[in-house]
Amino acid sequence: MPNVRVLFVCLGNICRSPLAEAIFIDKVTRKNLLHHFEIDSCGTSNYHIGDQPDSRTITSAHKNGIKISHSCRQLTSDDLAYFDYIIAMDQSNHQNILRLSNNGIHAEKVFLMRDFDVQGKGEEVPDPYFGDEKTFQEVFEILDRSADNFLQYIQETVLK
Ligand code: 4NP
Repeated sequence: MPNVRVLFVCLGNICRSPLAEAIFIDKVTRKNLLHHFEIDSCGTSNYHIGDQPDSRTITSAHKNGIKISHSCRQLTSDDLAYFDYIIAMDQSNHQNILRLSNNGIHAEKVFLMRDFDVQGKGEEVPDPYFGDEKTFQEVFEILDRSADNFLQYIQETVLK
């Protein structure tokens, strides 16, 4: 069975992508599939390197029964070679990832998180940084749905 390397990417790596990482880890753990995966997250910016997730991200995870632990790091060009699935939260992250990718040679690995969302396929995961608790809950629900479908896709295509 292959080892599937998944990297979730947003701007700051303190709100959306660490939450996506935590939700996805929870789902694969519940299905006893964690040994098939390497799961991480990072940001395209250097704004919060070394920081823990935003306190509102932690609250949102815990309120929804998810453990979260991540130290913020910035996306590197090595990540583009190493990971099999690089999942951007919005179009701006997606473009910044492709910009780092040498002439787009890794473009086929780069997805939008909501490519996997049946409600709002191809839309963006909104940036909750200037939002409120309601925005964080909306983000949680988008990530939860998208992570379910992404895992189903991996199970049907790679872990079959
Ligand atoms: P994230 O949210 O990209 O989901 O982690 C943000 C976090 C921090 C900032 C912007 C977005 N910031 O400008 O510091």
